[in-house]
Amino acid sequence: MTKRQTILTAGATGSIGHAAALALAKRGARVVLLGRRAEKLRSRADSIREVLTDVGVEHEVADIATLVIDFSDMDSVRAAAEEALHRFPAVDGLVLSVGALIQGGPTVLPSGHEVMFATNVMGPFLFTNRLLERMQQSDGLVLHVIARFPETLDWDDLESLEHHRSMDAFNRTKVCNRVIAGELARRYAGRISSVAFDPTFVLDKSDPELKDRWPSGFAGLVWRLMAIFRAKRPEIAGEPLAELMLSPRDRGSVNGALFVLDKRSDERDEAMDDEAEGARLWDRLELLTEPSPS
Ligand SMILES: NC(=O)c1ccc[n+]([C@@H]2O[C@H](COP(=O)([O-])OP(=O)(O)OC[C@H]3O[C@@H](n4cnc5c(N)ncnc54)[C@H](OP(=O)(O)O)[C@@H]3O)[C@@H](O)[C@H]2O)c1
Repeated sequence: MTKRQTILTAGATGSIGHAAALALAKRGARVVLLGRRAEKLRSRADSIREVLTDVGVEHEVADIATLVIDFSDMDSVRAAAEEALHRFPAVDGLVLSVGALIQGGPTVLPSGHEVMFATNVMGPFLFTNRLLERMQQSDGLVLHVIARFPETLDWDDLESLEHHRSMDAFNRTKVCNRVIAGELARRYAGRISSVAFDPTFVLDKSDPELKDRWPSGFAGLVWRLMAIFRAKRPEIAGEPLAELMLSPRDRGSVNGALFVLDKRSDERDEAMDDEAEGARLWDRLELLTEPSPS
C-alpha cells in the first residue's frame, strides 16, 4: 500500500485552498488546514469530513487537521511552524494559497511591515523555510498558487510603503511569490521541489465574505465583470492541484515548473527565472523575517 501523504494547505479557508484540501482529502491524503480563524477552520474541516462521508472515503477525524496561523504576524508564523514540526512527523507537501488584498493603505502593522507584503510574501516565506528540513525527509513539494501580473519589484520600496496603490502593491506581492517559487527550486534542487500553479480565474460565488474581497474603483468593476463572464468554480483549480501534489512521478522532474491548471506550461516565466532577483529577494526576506532582538 502506498504511504498516505500529509499535505499542509495555507489559505485553506479561501476558495482555492479549500477546494484543494477537499480534492486532496478525497484522494486519500491527510490534510492540515492552515488559517487565522479557528472557528472558520473548524467549519471548513467539518464540511470536508461531511463530503468524504457522503462520497464514501474512509477517514478518521484526525485526517483533516487544523493549524491556526496568522501569516501577517511573524511570531504567529514561527509558533505555528514549531507546532507543525511537533504534530506532523512527516510533511510531504505544502500548498501556499494565502492572499490578502487590502484596500486603501498602506496599512502598516505594529511590526512596521505593510500588511499585504507581510501576509502574502514574508509569512509564507518564513513558514516554508521553517519546514524545509522536515520536507526534505520525504522529497517534499511546495506548490505556490501564483498570479502572472506584469509588475516589477521596486527595491527601494519593496513593501510599497512609500508609493502605495493597493492593486499595484498587491500585484507586486504576487510577483514576489513567483520569484521565490523559482529561487526555492534552484536553491533546494535535489532536496525538495518547488512548482508554481496558475489557477486561472476561479471564484466561490457562494462565499458570503466575497464582497469584502473585491478591489474598489475600476479594478473592482473589472473583477465583477470577470466574475460574471469568466470565473470558474474553485474545484476547477482544486482538482488538478491535488493531482499534481499527489502524482507518484519523480517530483524532481517538475522542480521549477509552471503549471496552468492541469497543463505544464512551455512558456518560461520571467520572474521565476530571474536568478539575480531570486537571490536578492531570498536574502532580503531572510533579513526581514529574522526575529527582532528582545
Ligand atoms: N482566485 C483566483 O482566480 C486566483 C488567480 C490567481 C492567483 N490567485 C491567488 O491564489 C491565492 C488564493 O486565492 P483565493 O481566490 O482562494 O483567495 P481567497 O478566497 O481570498 O483566500 C485567501 C486565503 O488567504 C487567507 N488569509 C488572508 N490573510 C491571512 C492571514 N493574515 N493569515 C492567514 N491566512 C490569511 C484567507 O483567510 P480568511 O478566510 O481568514 O480570510 C483565505 O484562506 C491568493 O494568493 C491569490 O492571489 C487566485
